[in-house]
Amino acid sequence: MSKSWSPSSWRDKPIQQMPAYPDGGLVRQVEDELRSYPPLVFAGEARRLKKVLGEVAEGRAFLLQGGDCAESFAEFHPNNIRDTFRVLLQMAVALTYAASCPVVKVGRIAGQFAKPRSADTEVQNGVELASYRGDIINAIDFSEEGRVPDPKRMLRAYLQAASTLNLLRAFAQGGYANLHSVHRWNLDFVAKSAWGERYKAMADRISEALDFMRACGVRPEETPALQGTDFFTSHEALLLGYEEAMTRVDSTTGDWYDTSAHMLWVGDRTRSPDEAHIEFLRGVKNPLGCKVGPSTKLDELLRVLEILNPLNEPGRITLICRMGSDKIDDKLPPILRAVTREGRKVVWSSDPMHGNTIKSSSGYKTRPFDRILAEVRKFFEINRAEGTYAGGVHFEMTGQNVTECIGGAEMITDDKLAARYHTHCDPRLNASQALELAFLIAEGLKAERLAMADLAAAS
Ligand code: PEP
Ligand code: CO
Repeated sequence: MSKSWSPSSWRDKPIQQMPAYPDGGLVRQVEDELRSYPPLVFAGEARRLKKVLGEVAEGRAFLLQGGDCAESFAEFHPNNIRDTFRVLLQMAVALTYAASCPVVKVGRIAGQFAKPRSADTEVQNGVELASYRGDIINAIDFSEEGRVPDPKRMLRAYLQAASTLNLLRAFAQGGYANLHSVHRWNLDFVAKSAWGERYKAMADRISEALDFMRACGVRPEETPALQGTDFFTSHEALLLGYEEAMTRVDSTTGDWYDTSAHMLWVGDRTRSPDEAHIEFLRGVKNPLGCKVGPSTKLDELLRVLEILNPLNEPGRITLICRMGSDKIDDKLPPILRAVTREGRKVVWSSDPMHGNTIKSSSGYKTRPFDRILAEVRKFFEINRAEGTYAGGVHFEMTGQNVTECIGGAEMITDDKLAARYHTHCDPRLNASQALELAFLIAEGLKAERLAMADLAAAS
């Protein structure tokens, strides 16, 4: 591996998942234009996220990461941004209570536009066209013209990300994220959910805790921690020309940061230690994620950790495990052991979405709620058995009432998928499925904490 790094040194490496742009000159023109645009995030914010992720790595905080599989130009609407943000906050309240520690909130939002694909082409009714690669690259409509990669889409993606982030910042700090309101939304959800009885006890305990704080004189309007929240953005660093153009030197430290998001992750298909995506990411100082799927080779993963985090900083790397509920028992333990044996400090997070995708009999790509839940539960169990800290969860979800994943309290069945199947890529949990999952995970976390406290008291 070459020692010298620059934002463009990835260009000398083999690369996967690159769009074949027909007009290279136009790509360069667009990238130059992007280079002159303002950064979307400030390096200091990325450093703050790395610090709080360091707390997660040390077992003192928990990570909640979630949002769309793929953001789209068509679904760009303030209500969609608001609703995804709102559900993430609602989930975070249940998790904070259960885990009794701060929950770091990171959206797959304000930049999650580029998609890796398993196949370069797609066939519909005997017609073969290039695959859809996300709105930042080409169009989802199945037409020859739409599927041609268009670099100008990068400019639109940038503008949409900027405007989304602007609204998220306003929500996070402007009073919308007030803890009392978020809890009220949760009470509404509990009242309406078919499984509500199950969640009621926890919701009541949170109400009591808030009433107690109020009685002690802790008022949200005077307490910044109750009034607002930190909210960070993330996406897969896949389209490297775009990421390079957004990479700038931070004037306060002289370090390079990819200013397109606070956190970037490398996907399961592009994480080879000798290729372009890892080369790019090693030089930026943002906190990074790395997807870890069932095909992960231990020696390669250890090399990736060495390349991306030579100083072994806690908070720099989150390993996002996405094995599948049927494979996690076999695949996860050796990885936990090897990484621990090497003394590597990482955040262990569970993505229970990407290993549990199936084709339903009606032909839709879907994910059964039960398998998603089973993978997260096993993730916690396996970590406990191995003595590692299950520090986070990573979901594809939306605040909208879509019908993309089967199961949950509303019992979405195969024949109902067609009703509101809107995703541009993978099936997402809808608002109530996402909340149900958070409450079920919270229930498990709480039980685990009580069991640990009992153990400690007995010893
Ligand atoms: C994703 O997170 O949308 C994704 C493509 O994941 P993976 O790289 O794990 O397949
Ligand atoms: Co996805």
